[in-house]
Amino acid sequence: MADFDHLAPGVGDVIHERTAELRSACPVAYSGAYGGYFVVTGWDEIDRVAKDDDTFSSAVDGLGATMVLPQSEKVTAPLFESDRPRHSVWRRAMQPFFTPAAAARIEPEIRRLVREVLARLAPRGQADLVAEFAAVVPPLVTATILGVPDARRGEFAVLTRGLFGATSPEQAAGAGGRLAALLTGLIGERRGAPVRDVLGAVVNTTVDGVPATDEELLKHAFLMVAAGTLTAGDTIANTALVLATDAGLRARVLADRTLLPAVIEESVRHESAVAATGRTARRDTVLAGVDLVRGDRLLLVWGSANRDRTRFPDGERFRLDRAHPTRHLGWGAGAHRCLGMHLARLQLRVVFEELLEVLGDFEPEEGFAPRRTFGVLRGLRSVPVRWKVGGSTPG
Ligand code: HEM
Repeated sequence: MADFDHLAPGVGDVIHERTAELRSACPVAYSGAYGGYFVVTGWDEIDRVAKDDDTFSSAVDGLGATMVLPQSEKVTAPLFESDRPRHSVWRRAMQPFFTPAAAARIEPEIRRLVREVLARLAPRGQADLVAEFAAVVPPLVTATILGVPDARRGEFAVLTRGLFGATSPEQAAGAGGRLAALLTGLIGERRGAPVRDVLGAVVNTTVDGVPATDEELLKHAFLMVAAGTLTAGDTIANTALVLATDAGLRARVLADRTLLPAVIEESVRHESAVAATGRTARRDTVLAGVDLVRGDRLLLVWGSANRDRTRFPDGERFRLDRAHPTRHLGWGAGAHRCLGMHLARLQLRVVFEELLEVLGDFEPEEGFAPRRTFGVLRGLRSVPVRWKVGGSTPG
């Protein structure tokens, strides 16, 4: 039995060492935590589970993304926790809102939001790029794609940050309750109305003639908020840290912004923000020589696949010259591969184009020691940086 708990305090600081041990000793290892689950750490094994959705369901109790919302464990969210053929119906309904062209259409709006946030920070010469930037921009972008009315976007962003950044159960319950009320209102307004946004598309889609229930739609909406904000926020934080701490890379990107898509793709591989999500075995099967029985739960550790030596011999290095830069599992694999990938890539590019434009050169505050998070997501607690106001080098 493996001594592994993806939510244990401090695991974020040693996760790459721990998953490297597991990959070489047993890429499908049993952990007794949370009632027992199999920790899947090898690239081949994760890829197989993700693509074999006849054998492995995305509906899973108490592991992965749904841990963010423990109170709604018994409800199955459309799309995220559904399996084919139902899953394909939801996915088709949402797809038009996530094409590269759809993402490009909201680029001006994303750029405007990013500029607004940066305009407040720029004159200060210093900021925590997690609390004041990475946690601020993605909720505003998510509000845009969910169709939250302009007047309520600020409130939506504050509640989202309040829920996911809560430091006490009371704070989480308060923000979560108010966010649920806001989302429930949006869902109600969209029933039977013409489809104008992704939430409307889900509300008005039926599977075998049956629409999703209010509870299912609310869980879906919460998971959309998490999928759109936490992931992008943590990737902004992870990428900001690489740029802040690698002066050579920063200078290259400052001189040539066309490197940004490569920086972002490598960042999604190097410290995969979607750290781990769950699956449930739908029938008895064997995975890497390990017998699994129907109902067994598995945790797919995506970031571990992305450091697997069989695919990335120097996976710990951050490189822009990989022969196959997109052949990583940071966006997932199979039917549930990230639907928001084009939007996320675009958002991240705009975020860093504007950050470099407005701050110029920047560097970490002296003595800064990164503290990594790990669990369902992989990010950073803070990235304090400083820059020279009105100039290109920090003062
Ligand atoms: C850098 C940021 C992001 C990363 C690294 C990321 C990664 C992932 C991964 C690994 C999955 C697969 C999970 C699984 O199979 O269990 C996924 C699914 C998903 N992502 Fe993303 N994501 C990001 C941003 C976004 C954004 C901005 C949105 C939308 C606003 C989004 C929407 C989704 C949705 C809807 C799914 C579920 C797809 C399905 O079940 O068919 N993601 N994402």
